[in-house]
Amino acid sequence: MSSTPREIANKRRKIEYHHADVIVVGAGIFGCAAAFALAKQGRSVFLLERWMQEPDRIVGELLQPGGVEALKKLGLEKCLEGIDAISCKGYDVIYSGSDVLIQYPEEVVRDGEKEVRRRPEGRSFHHGRFISQLRKACASQPNITIVETEVTDTIKTQNKPQILGVETLTKNPLTSLKEPDCYFAKLTIIADGYASKFRKQYIKTKPVVKSKFYALELIDCPMPAPNYGIVVIGDTEPILLYQIGTHETRALIDIPENTPTAAVSAGGVRGHFANVVIPSLPEQVQACVRLALSDGKIPRSMPNSFLPPSTQQTKGMVMLGDAMNMRHPLTGGGMTVAFNDVVLLSHLLSPEKIPDLEDTTAIQKAMKEFHWKRKNLSSVINILAMALYSLFAANDRQLHALQKGCFAYFRRGGNCIDGPSGLLAGIIKRPIVLFYHFFAVALLSIWIVFQETMGGLLGIWKLPLAMEKSVGIFWKACVVIFPYIASELKT
Ligand SMILES: Cc1cc2nc3c(=O)[nH]c(=O)nc-3n(C[C@H](O)[C@H](O)[C@H](O)COP(=O)(O)OP(=O)(O)OC[C@H]3O[C@@H](n4cnc5c(N)ncnc54)[C@H](O)[C@@H]3O)c2cc1C
Ligand SMILES: *[C@@H]1O[C@H](CO)[C@@H](O)[C@H](O)[C@H]1NC(C)=O
Repeated sequence: MSSTPREIANKRRKIEYHHADVIVVGAGIFGCAAAFALAKQGRSVFLLERWMQEPDRIVGELLQPGGVEALKKLGLEKCLEGIDAISCKGYDVIYSGSDVLIQYPEEVVRDGEKEVRRRPEGRSFHHGRFISQLRKACASQPNITIVETEVTDTIKTQNKPQILGVETLTKNPLTSLKEPDCYFAKLTIIADGYASKFRKQYIKTKPVVKSKFYALELIDCPMPAPNYGIVVIGDTEPILLYQIGTHETRALIDIPENTPTAAVSAGGVRGHFANVVIPSLPEQVQACVRLALSDGKIPRSMPNSFLPPSTQQTKGMVMLGDAMNMRHPLTGGGMTVAFNDVVLLSHLLSPEKIPDLEDTTAIQKAMKEFHWKRKNLSSVINILAMALYSLFAANDRQLHALQKGCFAYFRRGGNCIDGPSGLLAGIIKRPIVLFYHFFAVALLSIWIVFQETMGGLLGIWKLPLAMEKSVGIFWKACVVIFPYIASELKT
């Protein structure tokens, strides 16, 4: 490929002065996609990552259809190829032994002249393989320079509060010693993930962790519904099962903090697996789980965090991805939010809108717009994940009633499935639809409680009791959802 004079000048600035248009901290899900999108627009980009080896993590393994769609828009859909990814058509929800299949809803898409109806698909895979593909795509992009280096600090100006770049530590391959280095850019994008080192400095809110996901990898495990993610609820906190390769299936088991059955005196996490988790699983899965546990170790785990989104005021820097916003991974929404955010970000920062990224005022304005525009999708996924988790991990009578109502709602089929699954998939980008289905579930739960409490007309004398229960349920539904809605309305 021959280079333009501008590209040659950019290369020189990068090598001689470590200067680029954009620095992206972290070559993870968000960082790779952002670097790629901005580089395609002609920006010169440094992508700084502390650990370039293929990561081995238990996160980011199922990409919803809405994420696949965003990946296509970014021109990165090839990254899903050659990694033994499994197609996902929806979920199979197992509630105390009975199940309901929740397919992603049909959509109408244009195929040249014709309109065709089809069901979109998600993809599940080994996280590390997908990351490697994303990094490979970035490495082959001439406007991106990837550097393996650990970012240690931001570089600020003395007189006006603006970020000019970052300080890093780079391992010298000859001596194996870490040496300090600096990188400069007009805009620094920090996407250093859930345990962000920089969050405290720039964001006021702190992540809240109420539970952890413990992970197992099952080998050649027969699935109750192939090509569907399995969600087990009812007898215990939610358990997820989904294939991540031809032979491998991921099991994620949610254990809230201070769970009595996982206390040391009750045999710890392994005791909880033996006494609570295994008995609640479909029979054909139980043996695989026992085998996966036979190494005698405590399974790997990750905290399930909630961090509502926020705007930032710092000039020359933005913090995005998990560093800025997280929700419970129950619905597998993190990567879908990240890729859709990158689509929006690259649109708002495009050279047509902001020719020079030195224009910090224009960037701040664009980021305000970003904060509100992203909500069509991100607030749906954030609120849905948190509210559904409350229901699925029910720990009181009202929540159990709502959980039962939720399952009964799915059982009705039609729009009672298409709506919720479209929201979960990241296809329906309208918060009001979530609101509607959530309260429809609450009303159905109340109806069920009425029927159960009175058991027909003869039970009319129990009406006051039924009324009391339903007020409790309705109140609970509000308590579950309104704090999360409120968290989305803040700047
Ligand atoms: C248990 C669990 C399961 C999940 N499952 C799913 C799922 O199925 N589907 C889904 O869509 N989402 C899932 N998520 C969420 C998803 O993993 C995240 O939303 C996504 O990875 C966020 O991307 P990110 O780029 O912000 O962070 P990351 O992907 O974590 O990337 C951060 C990068 O920054 C690098 N880095 C960190 N610090 C530095 C530093 N100082 N210098 C240089 N580099 C640095 C890291 O090495 C890493 O490469 C899950 C989350 C959890 C906790
Ligand atoms: C790289 O940037 C230049 C402008 O500097 C742009 O013209 C070109 O399209 C970009 N290259 C790619 C492969 O996107």
